[in-house]
Amino acid sequence: MLPVTVTDSAFLKACRREPVPHTPVWFMRQAGRSLPEYRKVREGIAMLDSCMRPDLVTEITLQPVRRHRVDAAILFSDIVVPLKAIGVDLDIKPGVGPVVARPIRERADLDQLRPLEPDDVSYVTEAIGLLTAELGDTPLIGFAGAPFTLASYLVEGGPSRNHEHTKAMMYGAPELWAELLDRLAGITGAFLSAQVDAGVSTVQLFDSWVGALAPVDYRASVLPASTKVFDTVAGRGVPRIHFGVGTGELLPLLAEAGADVVGVDWRVPLDEAARRIGPGRALQGNLDPAVLFAPHDVVAAQADRVLDAAAGLPGHVFNLGHGVLPTTDPDALTRLVAHVHERTAR
Ligand code: CP3
Repeated sequence: MLPVTVTDSAFLKACRREPVPHTPVWFMRQAGRSLPEYRKVREGIAMLDSCMRPDLVTEITLQPVRRHRVDAAILFSDIVVPLKAIGVDLDIKPGVGPVVARPIRERADLDQLRPLEPDDVSYVTEAIGLLTAELGDTPLIGFAGAPFTLASYLVEGGPSRNHEHTKAMMYGAPELWAELLDRLAGITGAFLSAQVDAGVSTVQLFDSWVGALAPVDYRASVLPASTKVFDTVAGRGVPRIHFGVGTGELLPLLAEAGADVVGVDWRVPLDEAARRIGPGRALQGNLDPAVLFAPHDVVAAQADRVLDAAAGLPGHVFNLGHGVLPTTDPDALTRLVAHVHERTAR
């Protein structure tokens, strides 16, 4: 059971489409490189090593909550952490992203993907325990990478603009593709379940790169796996958020996969997104992260445009349309949080 104060937070109320005292705000990638206190504690420690140290995970997760007064914390981790935890040989290269030693191209390569046991990620569940004790009534969001986005790193071997090897497998070897996505769905579902057992009050599935697909291909080749992930954490009283970039045409399918809250990037206004998705879901988003490089009055006006588009919707969590850009001025984020809170106070 979650403490009553967390359950009654503005963030969880908005996720459940209940009336809120103010529109809740958090930022994807709020914990990380935009904060000097983050760069300080990370000095000389590799990204993945920092994700495996519960003390550091706790400190870095709390930093943006202290500084910006956001309505939710997101666990400091990375989408490749569960893959590393089952023994996949990979690293996160600064300025590049996840790089995989042996890309998955044929059936034999699937041997790298065994099921994930909760013990494999004990440093994550330990950090969640420390965090829920520290956070008081601020909810903690757990997360994982969705099967398609994880597959794109595993098949390409690293970040990719066009996902050509990934799509070659999806179209050319559909049985191998289905097996790959099904294994990843098992790993992701187990990783999210472990986080829910440890005490997170929400989970977000990041399918960052799935906007590269047409709806017909999403339905045939990705929806079954992402649905399997959401089913794993259904009925636990924990809202499920589903997010991807460039997914204007996929929004109804992201909801269909089992989301309670659909994350929207900045390309589709929230009222139009709600029309595409239909009733019964809350929305999260969707200020263009690059707007934060403009003066505060412009940021405030653009934030108001987001709030106005969301005004008639039953559930809105204010966020950016994608992650905080590393060179963002942290003070711009703090002022934005205060603006949204003041403007929506009821
Ligand atoms: O504050 C938060 O949102 C929590 C932390 C978080 C990180 N990664 C920390 C991180 C979260 C939620 C992620 C998810 C993630 N990781 C996604 C999905 C979100 C999205 O942006 O779409 C993806 C695609 C990844 C893969 C990944 N990991 C990339 C593309 C990079 C950036 C590489 C670079 O250096 O440009 C990473 C590394 C990473 N993950 C960093 C952080 C803070 C930067 C590494 C560092 O600080 O040294």
